[in-house]
Amino acid sequence: MLELFAPIAAACDLTVAEQDKRPIAIVGAGVIVDVAHLPAYRRAGLDVVGIYDLNADRAAQVAARHGVEKVYRSLDELLLDERVEVVDIAVAPQAQPAVVRQALRAGKHLLCQKPFAPDEETGKELVALARKLDLQIAVNQQLRFDEGIAAARAMVRAGWIGHPTAMSVTVNIATDWTAWEWLLTTDRLEIMFHSIHYLDAIRSILGDPVRVFCTGSRTPGQLPKGETRTMSTLVYPGDVRALVHVTHENRTGDPEALFRIDGSEGSIKGTLGLLYNYPDGRPDTLEVNSRILPTDGWLPYPVTTRWIPDAFAGPMGSLLKAISTGSTPETTASDNLHTLRLLHALYDSMDTGESRALESS
Ligand SMILES: NC(=O)c1ccc[n+]([C@@H]2O[C@H](COP(=O)([O-])OP(=O)(O)OC[C@H]3O[C@@H](n4cnc5c(N)ncnc54)[C@H](O)[C@@H]3O)[C@@H](O)[C@H]2O)c1
Repeated sequence: MLELFAPIAAACDLTVAEQDKRPIAIVGAGVIVDVAHLPAYRRAGLDVVGIYDLNADRAAQVAARHGVEKVYRSLDELLLDERVEVVDIAVAPQAQPAVVRQALRAGKHLLCQKPFAPDEETGKELVALARKLDLQIAVNQQLRFDEGIAAARAMVRAGWIGHPTAMSVTVNIATDWTAWEWLLTTDRLEIMFHSIHYLDAIRSILGDPVRVFCTGSRTPGQLPKGETRTMSTLVYPGDVRALVHVTHENRTGDPEALFRIDGSEGSIKGTLGLLYNYPDGRPDTLEVNSRILPTDGWLPYPVTTRWIPDAFAGPMGSLLKAISTGSTPETTASDNLHTLRLLHALYDSMDTGESRALESS
């Protein structure tokens, strides 16, 4: 039975081929670079040559902690470094577009953080600039590479649950936002910065919905300004549906982070281990119940890697491979415009109380 899982595990492999590795420089030395980007890149054997942050002390500390040799004094200095072929941008989102424009004009391929752009127009402009300069942009939607999600997607693609009919993500956690001052004050919080992962992961499995409905709310006494509880419904052609239900104000101390995909011939269910104890977490769990294989009830798949840090090697590895082969990264920016469009349709629905159609394009 276990050899059945071999192609599923292969689809989750985060190994970066030696011939694809190229020198990387990082812009931004914040929390996520410290706990996820750099540990993942080290584990994958990637070549990070230098780092830059507006906060020079912070850049120096992070560089020292992870053995990064060079701390640049400016973005210009980083972009003038001819060794650097790929720039990994992880700054506060409002700062990202300007860095992207400058780095593209300097001839660098880019990995950008999510959300890729504040609005679709800016996103389209950046994608067009990269295309004109013949450069690649990928977006760090690393949940697609998290083993629980990647293995579930591979099982769906292998036909193990027949035709998928529904996917749900249910997350009920207590999130401490205090490490990010800019998240405490933003008007758009939950969908823009958190559910974006689930929505993009659902897109990677079910594709783009045609209509959405969303409601968002706050909890008495919550610290952040924006919405912390959301319910998003995604309607697909025919009978396929998806639901993302998230709250960050769990005051009972019983976190849960569940996902499930149902199909005509079976189901897949799992947990996102990271959210049980952020940022260390625990491995995901994943089980499949299939009349195609067939299984005798629920069969557990052995997850061996984590969302943080392991999955962070995924978008970078996919970008590096695309640069080598001239192919398209899994999380290419032009695909990510559809994730952005979905976010904005959900906010529009939240604001108006009405469902929103998504035009295909
Ligand atoms: N799982 C995930 O994918 C995930 C998790 C957390 C954060 N993020 C994203 O990563 C990005 C960074 O998040 P973070 O948690 O590290 O935030 P952070 O606030 O801890 O760090 C941001 C860093 O960017 C630096 N910075 C801001 N503007 C800059 C500029 N123009 N040039 C150079 N440095 C600049 C700041 O000095 C700061 O050190 C955000 O876009 C966020 O949405 C993604």
